[in-house]
Amino acid sequence: MNSVRLEYETEQIAVVTLNRPEAANAFSLELLEDLNDALDQIEKNRQLRVIVITGSGEKAFCAGADLKEREHMNDEEVIETVRKINQTITRVEDLETPSIAAVNGAAFGGGLELALGCDIRIGSERAKVGLTETSLGIIPGGGGTQRLSRLIGLGKAKYFILTAKRLSSQEALDVGLFEEVVSADLLMKKALEIAAVIAKNGPIGVKQAKKAIQLGFQTDLKTGLKIEQECYAKTIPTEDRLEGIRAFKEKRKPQYKGI
Ligand code: COA
Repeated sequence: MNSVRLEYETEQIAVVTLNRPEAANAFSLELLEDLNDALDQIEKNRQLRVIVITGSGEKAFCAGADLKEREHMNDEEVIETVRKINQTITRVEDLETPSIAAVNGAAFGGGLELALGCDIRIGSERAKVGLTETSLGIIPGGGGTQRLSRLIGLGKAKYFILTAKRLSSQEALDVGLFEEVVSADLLMKKALEIAAVIAKNGPIGVKQAKKAIQLGFQTDLKTGLKIEQECYAKTIPTEDRLEGIRAFKEKRKPQYKGI
């Protein structure tokens, strides 16, 4: 894995770094392959409770599709590459383990779409974001037309996508695209702090809560409430649920084992 680094902050927290700083961490075919290899390892790891995704260097989180590589592709190859970007981002969204995007710099096109596939987005003050595809004669193909409107609403998503607007961190925070913005030197510290808070909570509860929100959001309220009950039921027979109650009674911090 040359273009993606997978490192473990602790047994429970992994950091995935897109590592092509010379190309603004753009999605080359190699990077997509490496990111999928990292996801294979993440999916297999039963100890993991949170992942943080970020970009190397100070300028870019990810500049989206590799436009230099694309210049030499025929139509079929472009379709296949867009499909691969789309599937990879959906894989991130579908992870049982929650993900935090630590957006350290520019996140345009597929780069922002990757951040939209994460569960939580923290931006550095230096970050800039936008779905810029219409300025390149195409449309967002990594889920951006669907996920941006679900996250920030129809009107704003149409406004930003149709104008290919590039937003500052503050603007992204104001519209609810970023959950928090911090100075560049504090970005990873903040992302890891949030990861540590999540990692302390009951891992089965956290995964089921993510699933209930994710699946329920795509459907009507009644179906969503049913999904919530099904996800709740998965926590009932667990030792962690009993540990939560015991720790409360004994006035101590719970020690969750994920069983
Ligand atoms: N694909 C391939 N290479 C890219 C790239 C992309 N999407 N985005 C940037 N790069 C390359 C640049 O060509 C440059 O390489 P070079 O030094 O060989 O010329 C290098 O990354 C650094 O980019 P540069 O533009 O010089 O740095 P910057 O800090 O001024 O700006 C960006 C960085 C990301 C803001 C800017 O490059 C940009 O806007 N890129 C396009 C992003 C975009 O619209 N993506 C949507 C794709 S659908």
